[in-house]
This record gives sequence, structure tokens and C-alpha cells, in this order.
Amino acid sequence: MTITLCMPTLGKGATLLLLGILSARFACAQTPAPTTTQLPSPTASPVVPVTAASQEAATPEISPPPTPAVKKIAFGSCRVDGPYIAMTFDDGPNARLTPLLLDAMESRGIHATFFVVGSNAVLYPDLLKRMAQDGDEIGNHSWSHPQLSKLDVAKADKEILDTSDVITKATGQAPLYLRPPYGAMSPLLRKRIEDKFGMTLIYWSVDPRDWKYRDSQHVYDEILRQVKPGAIILSHDIHATTVAAMPHVFDALLAKGYKFVTVSQLIALNQPRAIKPAASPMHEATSSPAPSHS
Ligand code: NI
Repeated sequence: MTITLCMPTLGKGATLLLLGILSARFACAQTPAPTTTQLPSPTASPVVPVTAASQEAATPEISPPPTPAVKKIAFGSCRVDGPYIAMTFDDGPNARLTPLLLDAMESRGIHATFFVVGSNAVLYPDLLKRMAQDGDEIGNHSWSHPQLSKLDVAKADKEILDTSDVITKATGQAPLYLRPPYGAMSPLLRKRIEDKFGMTLIYWSVDPRDWKYRDSQHVYDEILRQVKPGAIILSHDIHATTVAAMPHVFDALLAKGYKFVTVSQLIALNQPRAIKPAASPMHEATSSPAPSHS
């Protein structure tokens, strides 16, 4: 059932177009890390809103105004001063696999963020409770894994609201973050999610495409190849090959000195870069479907 939910539904032409958009949008985040034993420098975050006020602040004058607090409402990665990374697991929880993953995390003192699908979450509230009790974070990944940008407003709202309700009932805490399935988003929906739900969109910068390559070694190799400080790593706790890879991924990343934090903790560590006054690269205001499945 979960596999069906997760299969991309785009036509070939649309997929190519979307891949083009995403390859531009995530170009920086997806640049492979150099093969070095040292930790690479933080990646520039691909998403930085530019406002008139922030451009003003970038001009040195006699009495420069304080830099305004520009709230980012979407993150694909963060700029951090340290080897911090956020593991994220989508599409669960899964009755058999998610507990195995939680055990592997707990025994290593690792925390992650789970973007749960409401139709799964409602079946396993105890797993959500355990995540919360373990110190993991839970985000919203819609109720039935549709492309939210293709739904009318009422249906998109219901996908989000029903899932948040399940999470809130199980844990006592409403989710702060939404990861749109397939990364599919529209400017209108994005604004609505911010205005109505006050949620921040979370994308990713490391994608082992574990939904496509059901191969633990591939998942391990790709995460180790792509990871860098500030990374948000996408994986799925509904695939046995992914969950089997994770103890090895965790141990390898820990051995390299990486520190696992939740999405909230990573964002709290984010250091906004200087705002570029010129034409900004594509950011999340544009349609932003995923290069992969999320
Ligand atoms: Ni997904």
C-alpha cells in the first residue's frame, strides 16, 4: 500500500520539466561532496528570500539598521557552524520497520525527524508516542501522499489538517513542519500553508533515492557521498533495505564526526547568509516539485 502511494504519478513530459526545475533549485545542495577525510564546508542554502528591507541592510552606511529577521518558510539544507545534520524519514510509520529504526537510533543516542503520512500514523499512535518520548521530531507529510499542488484548496487543507490532528492527538504537540509529497508545491499553496497553518516547508539536500534503489549498499554509499554539514537527508522508513542500511550509515557518519539533530535543532543553528541584492536564484516561490519521490 505504501509503495503505491509513493510512486510518482507525473507524465514523462511533466517529469522532465519538473526535474529541470529541481535540478536548478537543488543544484547546489546536490553537488557531490569531495572525497576527502575532512568535513567539507557548509553548503550555501538554496533558499533565501530577498526583501527590500534586507537589501537596504546589506548597504553599509553610517548607521546601518539592524538586519531584519527574515523568516524562511522553506529549507532544503542549513548553513551551520559545525558538523550538524538532520536525518529525515518519510512515508511511515511502518509497524515492522519503524521500531527497528527507532531501536538503532536509540542505542546510538541519535535523533531524527519523521515526516509521517496521516493514513499510516493513525494506525500506529504508539509509534508516534515513542518517537516523541525518544526526543525525535514528527512532521506532516500529508494524509494520503498526493501532489498537494494539484488539489483544490479544501482538499489540500484537509490532507494537512487531518494529519496534524493525528500527530497532535498522539503526542500532544502539533507539527511545525510540512514536507510536501514529491516536493510538489505551488506559490499559492505555500503562502496558504504559511498564513493559515504557520508551518515551515522542509525539503532535502541529500537524496539516496532509496525508494528506487532497494539496495542497502546504494543507500549507504549515496548518503556518505552526498552528506555535508547542514544537510537534510531524505530516506524512507517503509523500505527494509533502507532500514537495514541505517545502522551502518549512522556508525559511519558518527565516525566522521557528524552530529545528528532534529530539523528544529538544525534550523535553530542556521546562519542566514548575506543577502544578494541582484537577481536571486530560483527559490521556493516557484513551483517546486521534487527530483525524486519524498
Ligand atoms: Ni513521501
